[in-house]
Amino acid sequence: MNIDSVHLPKQAKALVEGQNKVSTYESTGGIVTSQFAAHNLTLLSPIPSGSIIHDNTCGSGTVTRAILSANPSASNLQFHATDTDQVFLDALQKDISAHSWPVTVANAKSEALPFSDDYFTHSITNIGIFFTSSAGVDGAKEIYRTLQPGGTAVVNCWEFVAWFLPLKTVHDALRPGKPFPAPTINWSDGQQLQKVMQEAGFAQDKMRLEKSEAWASTKEEDFWAWAEKTWAYLGGVGVWQESDEERWGEAVDMLVKILKEQKGTKIENGEGDGRVCPI
Ligand SMILES: C[S@@+](CC[C@H](N)C(=O)[O-])C[C@H]1O[C@@H](n2cnc3c(N)ncnc32)[C@H](O)[C@@H]1O
Repeated sequence: MNIDSVHLPKQAKALVEGQNKVSTYESTGGIVTSQFAAHNLTLLSPIPSGSIIHDNTCGSGTVTRAILSANPSASNLQFHATDTDQVFLDALQKDISAHSWPVTVANAKSEALPFSDDYFTHSITNIGIFFTSSAGVDGAKEIYRTLQPGGTAVVNCWEFVAWFLPLKTVHDALRPGKPFPAPTINWSDGQQLQKVMQEAGFAQDKMRLEKSEAWASTKEEDFWAWAEKTWAYLGGVGVWQESDEERWGEAVDMLVKILKEQKGTKIENGEGDGRVCPI
């Protein structure tokens, strides 16, 4: 996500500038995407030695990390991780170097991948296909082109984005009259996902459809800080305004209140005293 902005508030700057962007993402949305990545691996046959795996729209390598931690002794796996956000790629590269992981990183658009045809045995795009152009078709076509015949592709999208309405409500209240870009295509029923994969060349009868749920959990006392990071990361979707710096606390208070009331939040008062929010 591009979070550069002329009016990026100082509070957001502290949370999303430089490498802080990665830790802020990982402690908010990344908690959820990593659950999807781990769950999706349980649906696949064991990844054989010699596999060449594409972690497409990799962020800081969520899928790569999940595979490596599920297969710590797997020999001879090769990974290629691609994304357009250099800050995330730098964070991944740092860990690759520190742990000597068999991963090559490239800054590349999913619509124009720097790999030859039929290259990968596995191509995994975790919560990324809908960012690609032509409503996902351009990304899906590249997945198809670069996957070996008989290879395995995994793509997913949100059924319900719990943060969208709360964020839009805060935006509308604090920035009246300013547009909030809503997704133009509805991905929530899975139809668009299947459509783009078919358009790219994948056969309907070879597709398997799955659903899963993921949650970010936080304790009551940490909830405000969690909502603040979420506002810092996503508040710019509606474009930061000059007034956002001064009204920072008000925005986060409002987000906390709405998140607690909305349908995507569960409040648990049992052990752990936690509030649970999907993001
Ligand atoms: C929601 S994040 C998911 C990251 C990671 N796959 C995960 O599971 O945490 C979406 C990622 O897609 C990347 N992205 C968006 N548009 C892209 C494009 N056209 N080509 C490549 N990466 C893109 C963003 O930079 C971001 O890292």
